[in-house]
Amino acid sequence: MNRVVFNQKGGVGKTSITCNLAAIGASQGLKTLILDLDVQGNTTHYLVGAVDAEQFPAQAQGVAGLFKQTVGPRSMRKNPDSFVWETPFENLFIMPSSPVLGQIEKDLESRYKIYKLRDAIAKLDSEYDRIYIDTPPNFNFYSKSALIAADSVLVPFDCDSFARQSLYELMNNIEELQEDHNPQLEVEGIVINQFNAQAKLPGELVAELKGEGFPVIENFLTSSVKMRESHHEMRPLIYLAPSHKLTQAYVDLHNQLEKNIKKRRRSK
Ligand SMILES: Nc1ncnc2c1ncn2[C@@H]1O[C@H](COP(=O)(O)OP(=O)(O)OP(=O)(O)O)[C@@H](O)[C@H]1O
Ligand SMILES: [Mg+2]
Repeated sequence: MNRVVFNQKGGVGKTSITCNLAAIGASQGLKTLILDLDVQGNTTHYLVGAVDAEQFPAQAQGVAGLFKQTVGPRSMRKNPDSFVWETPFENLFIMPSSPVLGQIEKDLESRYKIYKLRDAIAKLDSEYDRIYIDTPPNFNFYSKSALIAADSVLVPFDCDSFARQSLYELMNNIEELQEDHNPQLEVEGIVINQFNAQAKLPGELVAELKGEGFPVIENFLTSSVKMRESHHEMRPLIYLAPSHKLTQAYVDLHNQLEKNIKKRRRSK
């Protein structure tokens, strides 16, 4: 089962949500892989620290290595698993980002490599219980590749009125992509991030979204400085502060998503 976390708006919580849900699943025994498709490499930095691309041979360049080999000779291609790294956390693996992703994007796009990630994930799916894909804040080659490859999409929303405006465009883009490339893609829902129950605006925005029929997930994530601390310490919340309120909100969200997966499987 694989899911992409996507919103073309920057800073809404894609990386935080990807890494923390993945880490919770891994801590519960699910063998989990994260693909970092964002050239910014925040997920990579969060989980394995700074990566010096020069230091590694081409096949170890994570996602960039995987994409790069699709324009090279077939006989030289490696199994997608050879681009995966271990993280310091049990059951949690990463295919890291690299600055090379930015350099090769145009070439990949002009050579129609948009389905290559889907092919790679089809091979990785049997190796991992869960695959998460973190995306850049753009509807670009990499996020489209991810939405084409994924079983489902989670959309973070940070209770900002600009985020709401971009949600319409985002949902349209997802629908168009479903229609043209991936009819199986399931919209798991909108994850409310940095929710502040004391302030008036977030509650109003969320109520409006629900009123308009957006699939809002009921387990809201609150705002806490623990999240920045977690990024700084390079430890997902479940390891840094297992009993913190935000960590517990993440655990509840994770467990709800797992329940929904089981329900969907039963109804198929
Ligand atoms: N629940 C939260 N409480 C407090 N701060 C948060 C929370 N979630 C995310 N943040 C902070 O918001 C900022 C943006 O989060 P994050 O990097 O996860 O967003 P993103 O959507 O991946 O950003 P980008 O679009 O740049 O990739 C970070 O500094 C992060 O620490
Ligand atoms: Mg990010």
